[in-house]
Amino acid sequence: MKQTITVFGQGYVGLPLSLSFALNGCNVIGVDTDPKVYDQLSHGITYQTEKHQNISIREILKEQLRQGTYRVINDGAEAVRQTRTIIITVGIPINGETPFYDHFDAACRTVGENIQAGSLVLIRSTVIPGTTENRCKPILEQLSGLKVGQDIFLAYVPERIAEGKAFEEFETMPTLIGAADEESRQKAAEIIRINSKAQIIFSDSMTAVETSKVIENLQRDANIAISQELARFAEASGLNIFEVIKLANTHTRVNILTPGPGVGGYCIPNAFYYLKAKAQELDIELPLLEKARKTNENLPKFIAEKTDALLRLRGKKLSGAKIAVAGLAMKDYSPDDRLSPAVEICKQLLSAGALVSAYDSNVSNAYPFKTETLESAMEGADALLILNRLYDGFDPTDKIQHMAPNPVIVDTRNLIDPKKLPPEASFWKI
Ligand SMILES: NC(=O)c1ccc[n+]([C@@H]2O[C@H](COP(=O)([O-])OP(=O)(O)OC[C@H]3O[C@@H](n4cnc5c(N)ncnc54)[C@H](O)[C@@H]3O)[C@@H](O)[C@H]2O)c1
Repeated sequence: MKQTITVFGQGYVGLPLSLSFALNGCNVIGVDTDPKVYDQLSHGITYQTEKHQNISIREILKEQLRQGTYRVINDGAEAVRQTRTIIITVGIPINGETPFYDHFDAACRTVGENIQAGSLVLIRSTVIPGTTENRCKPILEQLSGLKVGQDIFLAYVPERIAEGKAFEEFETMPTLIGAADEESRQKAAEIIRINSKAQIIFSDSMTAVETSKVIENLQRDANIAISQELARFAEASGLNIFEVIKLANTHTRVNILTPGPGVGGYCIPNAFYYLKAKAQELDIELPLLEKARKTNENLPKFIAEKTDALLRLRGKKLSGAKIAVAGLAMKDYSPDDRLSPAVEICKQLLSAGALVSAYDSNVSNAYPFKTETLESAMEGADALLILNRLYDGFDPTDKIQHMAPNPVIVDTRNLIDPKKLPPEASFWKI
């Protein structure tokens, strides 16, 4: 008989994870409480751009819906009653600097109220260290009257995929399983082996695994902040930071990330605040990591101010200028505009009085300043900000001739060859 799995949350993690299990022979019930997500998915619509063996996630979704191996519902209670394996991928957003648990808690409560004896719960969301042991487990036990490790089973299994590589990385990324008892560990491993060929590493501390997931993200945040500081140093030295980093990275133990317009998406910007929430409980300070986070948060402002300074050298200024923006997503090729520095840069430009026209072929969300084509965004613009690589080979150089005279080009992605620019263009690379 086919294994049935319920996955709470059908977003960037939950949907590809569900479809990956469906492709590997399971019946999957995807639960999402957002009526828009539920409605779109039940009609076979997703704007995610994941691919599996060159087949788009939208095609996979349609096919699995057709076969009945995947279905989406908004009634989590019903889904839990129909399955013995429940995976939670509902996130904990940060409001200001504070974790907002409501969605995550609601999912845990629905599971706790409806879970049957013998069931397994896997938490795959990224969480504040201690959440599974001290928050999720008590909710499950109190609401079900069942005991973890005896009647029901619980493990923390962080999701480590990068958006855009989900199907590949479910299969190839080593998986961490944190669980306090042997039965939970073994049951969790059986589920993970369904769609993973990679190594499984066990820990009997769920909190250790949760902390490791947060610091994986944090090291990227700090690494990117380092690259930004080095970029300022290289600029002042008249050096190309991309070349300098490439040279340094030839050392087998060095891996410096490249600078860009900032850090966005769900994972990396939240990581510091997840650790800080726990650190405050422990009365521990995290000054270096805090500085790195603030450095990255400040980048959109830096880019907007840099654009203004470059315009001023041309006798213009942001106020009243037309600014074309290429890229709204949080990273290259991505449809994900959550906490996107590109969106924040647009807001900074707008608040300085600029007229912003932004183009991104991958982002489905509407913005008042979004245009249908890159041509219309660049037509007559005083400056062009390249914030993302929209597709392989993306290069807007040939459209610069349609910009205003003496245009300013700001390249945060190392895409433009300055030798190909018209001589009157002023060029700045991060
Ligand atoms: N996006 C990534 O690349 C990535 C990678 C690794 C880990 N993570 C972690 O995975 C988790 C999910 O991230 P995401 O990017 O998929 O988020 P997402 O916002 O895309 O998806 C979460 C979904 O959960 C739904 N939801 C909210 N409350 C619910 C409830 N009570 N029951 C059912 N569904 C509910 C939301 O409507 C949303 O569609 C987060 O903890 C994130 O940090 C994300």
